[in-house]
Amino acid sequence: MTPSGPSPSISQRGSIRAAADQAATAGGLDHLVSVATARAFGPVASLERRALLAAFDAKAVGPILLAKHFAPLIAEGGSLLFFSGLGAWRPAPGGVAMAATNGSVTTLVSALAVELAPTRVNVISPGVITTGAWDAAVPDKQRLFQHVAATTPARRVGQPSDISTATRALLTDPFITGETLHVDGGGRWA
Ligand SMILES: NC(=O)c1ccc[n+]([C@@H]2O[C@H](COP(=O)([O-])OP(=O)(O)OC[C@H]3O[C@@H](n4cnc5c(N)ncnc54)[C@H](OP(=O)(O)O)[C@@H]3O)[C@@H](O)[C@H]2O)c1
Repeated sequence: MTPSGPSPSISQRGSIRAAADQAATAGGLDHLVSVATARAFGPVASLERRALLAAFDAKAVGPILLAKHFAPLIAEGGSLLFFSGLGAWRPAPGGVAMAATNGSVTTLVSALAVELAPTRVNVISPGVITTGAWDAAVPDKQRLFQHVAATTPARRVGQPSDISTATRALLTDPFITGETLHVDGGGRWA
């Protein structure tokens, strides 16, 4: 998001504006991509307000503020791209917060696409992708991956390259906006 240095926190007051100022000084940008997430897993009875707010910061408030500060800096033909997730379409017990926050991204992106036109705004909704995020998220990730591969129509879990292929498509196709692209191997229908 920034020309150099670590990514700013999407949830820290002033950090998005500061990053936008930096991008403006550098002459603007073609595309902005945010993968920010703050996972809040667990049964409803266990969910804490602080974790819920962090999750909504990453997937709902953050994207809106990113759009506010960065959309004016996006070059002609450029776009904003955010990330949702399969949990919004295949809810599971313990996934209320993930469903709500990931679902928010899709909803707000279609509204942003209408308001910010002609700047394009899109979403990728990954299924289970073999990123480091799973190391701490589940007790046995290999077991999870095997189960997902056996039940997903694509008969495998996703690779980061699946996401980069989809990302390139959404960034470069000038006729796609307000879209949620599901890169889940058909996981919504598993
Ligand atoms: N992997 C999957 O199977 C899967 C499935 C469904 C949806 N997704 C979605 O796809 C996206 C990428 O997933 P991933 O597996 O690559 O997740 P990840 O490994 O946890 O990476 C998340 C990234 O978000 C950054 N981040 C977290 N909180 C932030 C904040 N407040 N401000 C700015 N950046 C922040 C992290 O930066 P630091 O490392 O500096 O903290 C990290 O680079 C996420 O939105 C996730 O919800 C992934």
